[in-house]
Amino acid sequence: MQTVSDIKRPASRSSSGASMGWVAPAKVIVFIAALYPLARIVLLGVTNGLGANPIEFITRSTGLWTLVYLCITLAITPARRLTGVNALLRFRRMLGLYAFFFAALHFTTYLWFDKWFSVTEILKDIGKRPFITVGFAAFLLLIPLAVTSPKAMVKKLGRRWQTLHKAIYLIATLAILHFWWMKAGKHDLILPKIYGAIVVVLLGWRLLVWLKGRYARPRA
Ligand code: HEM
Repeated sequence: MQTVSDIKRPASRSSSGASMGWVAPAKVIVFIAALYPLARIVLLGVTNGLGANPIEFITRSTGLWTLVYLCITLAITPARRLTGVNALLRFRRMLGLYAFFFAALHFTTYLWFDKWFSVTEILKDIGKRPFITVGFAAFLLLIPLAVTSPKAMVKKLGRRWQTLHKAIYLIATLAILHFWWMKAGKHDLILPKIYGAIVVVLLGWRLLVWLKGRYARPRA
């Protein structure tokens, strides 16, 4: 998930002219490291370490990692602005796709092992449990972002791509609501509060940048 301007930027040099030869190997390392949550589930699975309720373990683990990758993806632009390292943008699409990948695993676990592919059961659940309703909405919104993430789509859609990818803010908000609602029933809001604060800071930062850009413009 990157911007049109990222794509137009030459691959081997940053805008400051510094060498970016480290980016390709770093991307391979990040790609492998980001598979850690899946490797952990597989390892625990084959060693009987998933606990008394393996389905719950997998659902919760994949849900939490989806949120973690969403937060990291949202943090890339602020981190780039704060550090001046433009190359950070080159990791955003991969990490955004990891968020989608874990969301798909999370949903598949629910669809398969919780609902046994029963569409009527799922629709009933979506209508009955608000935390499922918002989680499902977040997942549906992630699909067009993942589909339009290839570079060719970024070029083809131009400005419309940027508008579409603003949905990431709504997705992050829905993800927090999903988490919050789910945990509120269990009176265990520590993690939702921590992730909620992270998302508020990340979205608040974007809002400040936007407001600054809007009101700092010289008057005609
Ligand atoms: C962007 C999309 C989503 C995100 C970020 C997300 C995130 C999460 C998180 C953080 C948890 C709690 C993990 C924990 O307990 O530590 C969770 C649990 C759960 N999510 Fe999601 N979720 C998403 C979409 C969905 C969808 C589409 C469904 C099903 C339609 C779903 C169903 C569930 C269920 C059943 C649980 C476990 C509830 C329980 O253990 O009582 N989620 N999710």
